[in-house]
Amino acid sequence: MACFFRRTIAAQLSRIFGRGEDVFIPAICAVPVSKKQVSPDFRVAVGALVNKGIISSDGDLQAKCEVLVRQIKQDRVVEDAAFEHGMLNFRINKIILAKKLLSQLNKKPHEFGVRSELFSNIRRGRTLVEFSSPNIAKKFHAGHLRSTIIGNFISNLKEALGNDVIRVNYLGDWGMQFGLLGVGFQRFGSQEKLKENALQHLFDVYVQVNKEAEGDEGVQEAARVFFRKLEEGDDHALLLWKQFREITVEEYKRVYKRLGVHFDLYSGESFHQRQTQHVLQKLREQDLLKTTEKGTGVVDLSPAGDMSSYSTVLRSDGTSLYITRDIAAAIDRKEKNNFDEMIYVTDKSQALHFKQLFQILKAMKCPWADSCRHVPFGLVQGMSTRHGEVVFLEDILDEARNRMLRNMSHSRTTKDLENPEYTAEKVGVSALIIQDFKGPITSDYKFDWKRVLQAQGDTGVFLQYTHARLCSLLRMHGDSASEAEFDPALLQEDRSIFILQHLLRYDEVLYRCTQELQPRHLVNFLMTLSHFVASAHKNLAVKGSPPALAQARLRLFAGACSVLANGMTILGITPTEKM
Ligand code: ARG
Repeated sequence: MACFFRRTIAAQLSRIFGRGEDVFIPAICAVPVSKKQVSPDFRVAVGALVNKGIISSDGDLQAKCEVLVRQIKQDRVVEDAAFEHGMLNFRINKIILAKKLLSQLNKKPHEFGVRSELFSNIRRGRTLVEFSSPNIAKKFHAGHLRSTIIGNFISNLKEALGNDVIRVNYLGDWGMQFGLLGVGFQRFGSQEKLKENALQHLFDVYVQVNKEAEGDEGVQEAARVFFRKLEEGDDHALLLWKQFREITVEEYKRVYKRLGVHFDLYSGESFHQRQTQHVLQKLREQDLLKTTEKGTGVVDLSPAGDMSSYSTVLRSDGTSLYITRDIAAAIDRKEKNNFDEMIYVTDKSQALHFKQLFQILKAMKCPWADSCRHVPFGLVQGMSTRHGEVVFLEDILDEARNRMLRNMSHSRTTKDLENPEYTAEKVGVSALIIQDFKGPITSDYKFDWKRVLQAQGDTGVFLQYTHARLCSLLRMHGDSASEAEFDPALLQEDRSIFILQHLLRYDEVLYRCTQELQPRHLVNFLMTLSHFVASAHKNLAVKGSPPALAQARLRLFAGACSVLANGMTILGITPTEKM
């Protein structure tokens, strides 16, 4: 909806400068709301017009801008323009603002912000997002959790903006560790335990066999033999491996569901093991594969061709590596899914790996290599539960739910909840997500349950609480409110205007999130919205107000509630209606 206002302002600028409206659109920004006084609604940085060559920087810029401001005509929408601190500031008619914004939010809440013309130059193609990607029989650590929620956010955002998104989980399901796991299972595995608690049992077996292998050449040799059998396609070995994989995927699906995450594809390193031979063949044909003195196969990545940087793609025993499987996987994905863009979400320790992967794809003349992108994130320290270190995703979810349930037991409204566990889980997860998304994702941070689950301050609990309060207000006054006409002239107090002005920024915030693939801009936006809502809720009564006023206020709260819910959903949070 901000578009309508941007267009009107752009039309004025277009008339003055004799240039098309579209050049002005990206420069017209909603002004961040200050709580002290009502600010202008939109602004244009004069610097941006200079950069675009619309205003020349020669001569007295100040004087030129003052003339310009006088050329802007008052119309139905633009009430006033001023030049202040390098900015052209525009004030728009607040009745039209309330009317346009809240009508759109009422009619098409899901289109609000995401159908903005700011996104018109962004290609709405197919995006493949690879995220989470845990390793079978190993720990699901904080890094995997982070990849899961960031990848989910990126997928949700792209989808909301109209992209076709394919969510891929690339399991660590191949490599020497499966030799060990196979041998371990033959020695002390149990089918019963596998059925009872698959992830725990595979993990236990893996830990135990690793211990035994440490001083025991025999176990190591047996593991090598088992893995060779797997690579050679031995039926018996493969059957066991398949069972581990299937059972793990089933378990993960169940737990991801609790987190509100799903995947379109469970792929994994094993899938591409077979294709690595083609990759190596192609590298040879393209004269990119060099054999070192040690007998390994490498790709020279140095600009000067002096091997000052290279990547090993083949071991001396002829087996492939992590990166070889990634090359095969990328090529295969392009062939099968024909993506326009591919995004990998992992911690920043893998940055070099992905840089080299993309370099190799480019050297192999894959024209789409430039559309691959790695989104790195920082480390989380100290994420643990009452039982100690986090081993499984489910541990974190249980801990968040149980702690939240305990916090909620002090609250008055909890007893009215039909399913307090469900609510506690949803709120607990949102707390985890917000804690993670508050800062730049590349930063490391120290995890702290107490801080995460606070109801005050900028936490996920606070967002959920605000949303639930709005839902309760809307429930109390009936749904009919959304159908009836309302008088926008009754929404002229500062507190209403703050909310409306803030909502004008929503599309810009989403735009920034897509440019940087960073959730924090959306988190900040929703926090500020929640603070404005809390203050309005306290001061702008619905109950006891004359019907027309109550009606107008309800519409304002309903609009804020929709945007809050939409934004939370993009972040990967399920908004709760009661708390
Ligand atoms: N399984 C890997 C790990 O746990 C992450 C996989 C990342 N994706 C990839 N295509 N290499 O570290």
